[in-house]
Amino acid sequence: MSEPARTLAQFDIAGRSGFVTGAASGIGLAYAEVLAEAGARVTLTDIDAEGVRRETERLLAAGHDVRCNVLDVTDRAACGAAVDAHAAAFGGLDICFANAGLGEGPGWVSPTGERVPDGQVDSYDDALWDRSIAINLTGSYNTMRHAARVMKAGGKGGSIIATASNAGMILEPIVPMPYHPAKAGVLHMVRALALELAAHRIRVNAIAPGPFVTNIGDGWAKKDPAVKAAFDKTIPLGSMAETYQMKPLALYLASDASSFMTGSTLLIDGGVALGAVQ
Ligand code: NAI
Repeated sequence: MSEPARTLAQFDIAGRSGFVTGAASGIGLAYAEVLAEAGARVTLTDIDAEGVRRETERLLAAGHDVRCNVLDVTDRAACGAAVDAHAAAFGGLDICFANAGLGEGPGWVSPTGERVPDGQVDSYDDALWDRSIAINLTGSYNTMRHAARVMKAGGKGGSIIATASNAGMILEPIVPMPYHPAKAGVLHMVRALALELAAHRIRVNAIAPGPFVTNIGDGWAKKDPAVKAAFDKTIPLGSMAETYQMKPLALYLASDASSFMTGSTLLIDGGVALGAVQ
């Protein structure tokens, strides 16, 4: 094989299988699409039953080998059963994206710079804390531990990718406070699992996105072009990203192209973590 051919062959995931949580929308849907478009067999899972069925039907109609599972990542037993069902349907598990998450509740500062009363720590709604930790952090754990279990049993290694956030590394006052420790926890869990699972050739990495146009935060970026345009000005590269821009990075981490990477965090945030645009 020529050297250029060997380089490109490392991106080949045809025939492998991937499991994605939060796949009915946004970044998770882009992960599921790129796996399927690259010839992998995919299970799309989401708590949104109608959405995950709709997107799975669409990918099936386009000729891809996909299936779906309605799954709430906070349900531990259901996470295990869904990963087992994937392995039974596709003969194992090669790739897992622990992606389901949400950014619910107010930040402590509004997008226009005022302090938000309900976003202050002394008056914060405990239910919002509990949900952020349960879905963003514990939901990632529930997904990754069952992926690791099935990959270990398969004996062929694998790639686990968690969607964290640049808010796991930097502080964004307009982002709900509990989101920061939840995503920082995901990043450190990824490192812990990467070290533990390396002997099994199971790689564990994190993607830390910055602002992508999705349905997160009630889909605010799709609703008001003026608000989005004002926000775009704060991003060093000039605008929020569209989800197709996530696909090359997802393919890189899912495939052997990243075969010597584990425990890494890949920031994809338009430069937001570098600081404010002057
Ligand atoms: P999205 O709202 O478009 O998609 C999230 C999906 O997760 C939805 O389909 C939703 O139904 C599903 N979900 C929510 N709770 C769930 C649960 N308990 N069990 C299973 N599925 C559940 O949002 P987006 O932006 O695509 O979010 C994907 C991931 O990316 C999240 O982890 C989010 O925190 C992260 N992220 C997103 C950023 C952005 O700017 N869009 C920036 C940084 C991180």
